[in-house]
Amino acid sequence: MSRISDHLSIKNHHLTIGGVDAVSLAQEYGTPLYVIDEDRVRRNFRTFKGAFPDADIYYAAKANWNLAVLRILASEGAGADVFSDGELYAALLAGIPPDRILFNGNSKTIHELQMAIDVGVRVSMDSLHELYALSNLALESGKTMDVAFRVNPDVSSDTHPKIATGLATSKFGIGYADVVEAYNEAKKLPGVRPVGIHCHIGSQITDIAPFREAVEKMMDLAEQITRLGIDLEFVDLGGGLGIPYQKEMETPEPRDLAGAILPIFDERSKNLGISPKLILEPGRYIVGDASILLTGVNTIKRSARNFVGVDVGLNLLIRPAMYDAYHEVIVANKADLDGAETYDIVGPICESGDIVAKDRKLPLIEPGDVVAVLDVGAYGFSMSSQYNGRCRCAEVLVCDGRVDLIRRREDYGDLIAKQAVPARLL
Ligand code: LLP
Repeated sequence: MSRISDHLSIKNHHLTIGGVDAVSLAQEYGTPLYVIDEDRVRRNFRTFKGAFPDADIYYAAKANWNLAVLRILASEGAGADVFSDGELYAALLAGIPPDRILFNGNSKTIHELQMAIDVGVRVSMDSLHELYALSNLALESGKTMDVAFRVNPDVSSDTHPKIATGLATSKFGIGYADVVEAYNEAKKLPGVRPVGIHCHIGSQITDIAPFREAVEKMMDLAEQITRLGIDLEFVDLGGGLGIPYQKEMETPEPRDLAGAILPIFDERSKNLGISPKLILEPGRYIVGDASILLTGVNTIKRSARNFVGVDVGLNLLIRPAMYDAYHEVIVANKADLDGAETYDIVGPICESGDIVAKDRKLPLIEPGDVVAVLDVGAYGFSMSSQYNGRCRCAEVLVCDGRVDLIRRREDYGDLIAKQAVPARLL
């Protein structure tokens, strides 16, 4: 047996995950198939939490809100960052306590604000309009809501432009120069109590410097807000820590992030005489490398390129098409064979951009082989669709050699379940 990482290894030419043969999984459950390793999720969470023992870790549910994953993280003591009513619903159902959930979102509906009031979670406000709406709704419900403002800290990071969220031109948060005034306004309003401050500068960030800049800027604001007489109970710095999608990539670990931001956070809190809770909202770091996507090879075609047609496309993994994201691929049933040909692994979707992996040197591939796409646990299934009338695939959880189905494969009925043809067309 040879190891690829802690949870992936090769045994009898086959890729294994969490001690389970990936090729057998493909045979038993069919492809495409998402496979999640429970131990890896737990380990990643513990590594993150271990670097920030005094902070609260609010897992970013958007990365992967499968109930089993949320349940695992709830049992580890995670809170949740939710970005919609659906994510809030799933997080509560999985047992994450409402007092450890922050409801984020740049364009929440009245229904979502009311839901936040009804279940009693804190809300990160993204605009003054939203603040007024929440204040009115809370008054009608006879409640007072604890809120934060999402700050746009105007910090640039080294990530793909589509996942940088803290630039001055980004749609998220209150402009840096307007934040203090927003707290002043919130202080005066009934039904809301400003108790926190929140930012998130982007995702897949592989350099620590922008996080340091963000915490400095947030603590500058904390100082001004404290001067307004507001008692800051928490400072939430969001998520964003990148992972090494390419194995030769050097990415910072949670302890590096902690080494950069904790001294600033602690020192400045102490100088201000305040002791807010630090909150972090990692998503990708917790689940990204804990899952693989198994895809069956349908066809091989040599033309201008060497195409391998598989059964996973941008319907199930949109990251390559959307962000030119790189995901490692391994031929799961020939995992220890040397590369023989250079292939483009392409999906079945009617889009030229439906390319899972480009220019990969892999063992000779034949129809029936199983290709594993690695590091798909974050923003994989959670961004899937039914485009081209394709049923979404199943998901299994592996743990210590055992396998549990945690999402059944959709069928044609699911494709049309909510559709209706008007009687006059029948
Ligand atoms: N907190 C907030 C408010 C966020 O908006 C996000 C991600 C996170 C936390 C978690 O960030 P993470 O630790 O996972 O980087 N679909 C894209 C990523 C979009 C991230 C959106 N916000 C991708 O596949 O790369």
